[in-house]
Amino acid sequence: MSTAPPADPAPELFTWEFATDPYPAYAWLREHAPVHRTRLPSGVEAWLVTRYADAKQALADQRLSKNPANHAGSAHAKGKTGIPGERSADLMTHLLNIDPPDHTRLRRLVSKAFTPRTVAEFAPRVQELTDRLIDGFADRGSADLIHEFAFPLPIYAICDLLGVPREDQDDFRDWAGMMIRHGGGPRGGVARSVKKMRDYLAELIHRKREDLGDDLISDLIRAGDHGEHLTENEAAAMAFILLFAGFETTVNLIGNGTYALLRHPEQRERLQAALAAGDTALLATGVEELLRYDGPVELATWRYATEPLTLGGQPIAVGDPVLVVLAAADRDPERFHDPDTLDLSRRDNQHLGYGHGIHYCLGAPLARLEAQTALATLLTRLPDLRFAAEPADLRWRGGLIMRGLRTLPVEFGSG
Ligand code: HEM
Repeated sequence: MSTAPPADPAPELFTWEFATDPYPAYAWLREHAPVHRTRLPSGVEAWLVTRYADAKQALADQRLSKNPANHAGSAHAKGKTGIPGERSADLMTHLLNIDPPDHTRLRRLVSKAFTPRTVAEFAPRVQELTDRLIDGFADRGSADLIHEFAFPLPIYAICDLLGVPREDQDDFRDWAGMMIRHGGGPRGGVARSVKKMRDYLAELIHRKREDLGDDLISDLIRAGDHGEHLTENEAAAMAFILLFAGFETTVNLIGNGTYALLRHPEQRERLQAALAAGDTALLATGVEELLRYDGPVELATWRYATEPLTLGGQPIAVGDPVLVVLAAADRDPERFHDPDTLDLSRRDNQHLGYGHGIHYCLGAPLARLEAQTALATLLTRLPDLRFAAEPADLRWRGGLIMRGLRTLPVEFGSG
């Protein structure tokens, strides 16, 4: 007697369909295999955690280390934090790759320099950058919003904040472009771009030490000079992680957010009406909702069990990699009412898009500022913005950690 196939088979992960719309597969995993062992495209096996409660527990669990040396097969785990080419240099001492007590010390230092006030004072500059980029295509009637808008805005913003001189910022734009286009693999061009960026940052830090200015790198050096020591390598790694963690994420929040708004005209019209009336409350809750609904970080970065533990009833062995699927947790019906509906005014919205626990996103205030400014200005200046391609045909990058569009062709204007 033959066995009937299961009515509801496990979905295939990491295919083209999955990259386009992973949410049905995540719904299946949450229901049938909430802590699921899978083989990643790289060949490494890892646990995927998809329920909100388990995800939150895992993100806060100190038995899960961020240090790749704690992976059972650490010889091949090095450089698996999602940052291409990071093995090429001594950038391993960045925040996303270390545990307390080093993490506590470095996070305290950077928090002194990178405060919510630093970000608030930066608002006029973000507005100016946003307007300048829109000026570049406003008269043309069409644009690719990824390449001409979402991509350059965060890189120029973070370069300005760090104190990278304007004349050098296009180099950063090119290096970052190389990393975003070819990210995820140790290809020659990416490794070279990371090395160039690292060498540039080391040199810049050296120069700033001699001549402190009014910028984040100078503030980092000052913070390190007050009692606690910050080595030049640590400062370079810190500048690099600020650039790296703050770049592709924000590109994708602006890109995915615009895409979601264009696909939900009634929500977009609500937001436009609120903005026209000078009401920014919906913009604030709306950007949080866009982050929950289709956030830029699909999986939190890698964690490795340092002790045997149980997650969602599933035993995890020492050294096993654990990947927390933020995108799945943020659609969990156990936590969010009607999770597959985009509701810009959603109030009960403790999403995990910025992570949770000691590695909670340091740049969240800057990301909010950039995304709010970008979306509000775009919708106000180009009120009839619309897709210039069939939305279902748009290509998503198939990366593991990030979720974002390759291009977003749009049209606007009177015609
Ligand atoms: C950490 C998301 C923008 C800097 C994180 C984490 C997430 C995240 C999920 C935690 C990862 C983990 O636990 O494995 C985002 C999203 C952003 C964004 C969705 C934009 C929409 C930024 C910006 C900056 C930044 C603009 C800085 C300029 C950082 C840093 C960490 C971090 C330094 C590491 C913190 C630590 O380990 O203590 N981010 N991020 N991020 N983010 Fe962001």
